[in-house]
Amino acid sequence: MRTPIIAGNWKMNKTPAEAVAFVNAIKDNLAPYTAVERVVCPPYVALPGVADALKGTEIAVGAQDVHWEEDGAFTSQIAPAMLEGLVKYVIIGHSETRAYQGVSDEMVNKKVKAALAHGLHPIIACGESLEINEAGGTRSFVEKQIRAAFADIPASDLANIVVAYEPIWAIGTGKSASAELANEIIGSIRVILEDIYGADVANAMRIQYGGSVKPANMVEYMSQPHIDGALVGGASLKEDAFVDLVRLANEAKGLS
Ligand code: PGA
Repeated sequence: MRTPIIAGNWKMNKTPAEAVAFVNAIKDNLAPYTAVERVVCPPYVALPGVADALKGTEIAVGAQDVHWEEDGAFTSQIAPAMLEGLVKYVIIGHSETRAYQGVSDEMVNKKVKAALAHGLHPIIACGESLEINEAGGTRSFVEKQIRAAFADIPASDLANIVVAYEPIWAIGTGKSASAELANEIIGSIRVILEDIYGADVANAMRIQYGGSVKPANMVEYMSQPHIDGALVGGASLKEDAFVDLVRLANEAKGLS
């Protein structure tokens, strides 16, 4: 059975002090939902404070990106070694980094390899634009992203990787993909992974949905057989909403 994972992607929100106050306010409320893996991904500068505040809890911390080089002249970037011991997860290939920072499929693959080499667990994000969706190109576009991201990644690393399917047109827009559609695309991602790695590995992989997930639609997503949780932006910034999402995920999978 795959453990659902709810990860809050805070994007460029909350100062370090606000981030620490937020996790201190919710950590006890999240504690009972042990069957769901709970993750918060604050901005880099808040990571030490948040990691410290969450010590001794089961809530994991993630970074929002990582560079693939070990060190060097890469102004503004963060190397994987800098995250070691600080975070468990790192989001790689989020559509906003692909769009605003020119992160390509090839770079995603390099980042995934670098993260794994440093013991970090990648959350690989993929998803199509509205234009591609309306032209009926979703499956082939996502397949290309997935095959590129997993190039030369051995099956032995797959237990440490999570995939997040996030249609770009659903991110921050309030226009979420229907649960059936999300399940269908996530199922097709599992078929691609099965083709590369075989059924056992593919069936064990956790694949999240992301894009305007909120407490009001959480149960619909979690009731789908292929959806193993959510990568959440906006709703993860509010204390009550984030706790509700985790509680609902716990209940929906019959784990409460
Ligand atoms: P959203 O963002 O929940 O605000 O749509 C999701 C994401 O970008 O990870």
